[in-house]
Amino acid sequence: MTRLATDRLDLVPLGRDHLAEYAALIAQPDVHRYLSAAKAIAADPAGQAERIVDLAEQQWRERGYGPFAVFERAGGAFVGRGGLFWVERLKAVEINYMIDPSAWGRGYATELAEAFLRFGFGRLGLARMVATTNPDNAASRRVLTKVGMTADGQRDFGTHMVDFFRIDRSEWKGDPT
Ligand SMILES: CC(C)(COP(=O)(O)OP(=O)(O)OC[C@H]1O[C@@H](n2cnc3c(N)ncnc32)[C@H](O)[C@@H]1OP(=O)(O)O)[C@@H](O)C(=O)NCCC(=O)NCCS
Repeated sequence: MTRLATDRLDLVPLGRDHLAEYAALIAQPDVHRYLSAAKAIAADPAGQAERIVDLAEQQWRERGYGPFAVFERAGGAFVGRGGLFWVERLKAVEINYMIDPSAWGRGYATELAEAFLRFGFGRLGLARMVATTNPDNAASRRVLTKVGMTADGQRDFGTHMVDFFRIDRSEWKGDPT
């Protein structure tokens, strides 16, 4: 099983073991507010958590990467979810993350995003990664900028527009080891 570790966080592939914690995480309005599936999540967080966990498990099986459940090493609390996801409409690997509001502002999302770039460019040998955010999600835009991704306009996702960020391996300043 693929596991990642950062200075303060331990990551394991998101799976059915994490369903209850994950549903409780996404049920919070502060967490789903800027997500494209916000309405569906608010109406049925447990059902949406199941759907996403199924997709996560499929992605891990088929591609060897996917979303992780994120735990604080000190104390072992579940504090979020994030990882790499193939986005067919962008034909690209996207990084994403969400952190429990009780743990916001500690730099965890930035630590995760750095780990995902290291995993993608290092272990997986990807040439490029992307990210998308709701244009109003200033904290997420800040995280993507901090880890060296470049804002590259908007993309039309049919029902809504997203801000688009990208980074090529040649632009990445991290250490692959
Ligand atoms: C976006 C999110 C992951 C950030 O998590 P976090 O662990 O608090 O992020 P970090 O502490 O690593 O960094 C946040 C940065 O945004 C800044 N920030 C926070 N709120 C902000 C706001 N309203 N406007 C501008 N900047 C803001 C912080 O100051 C920090 O930047 P700094 O280090 O330069 O001070 C978290 O808010 C979250 O889970 N939101 C809900 C889910 C979500 O929207 N995920 C992203 C989907 S694209």
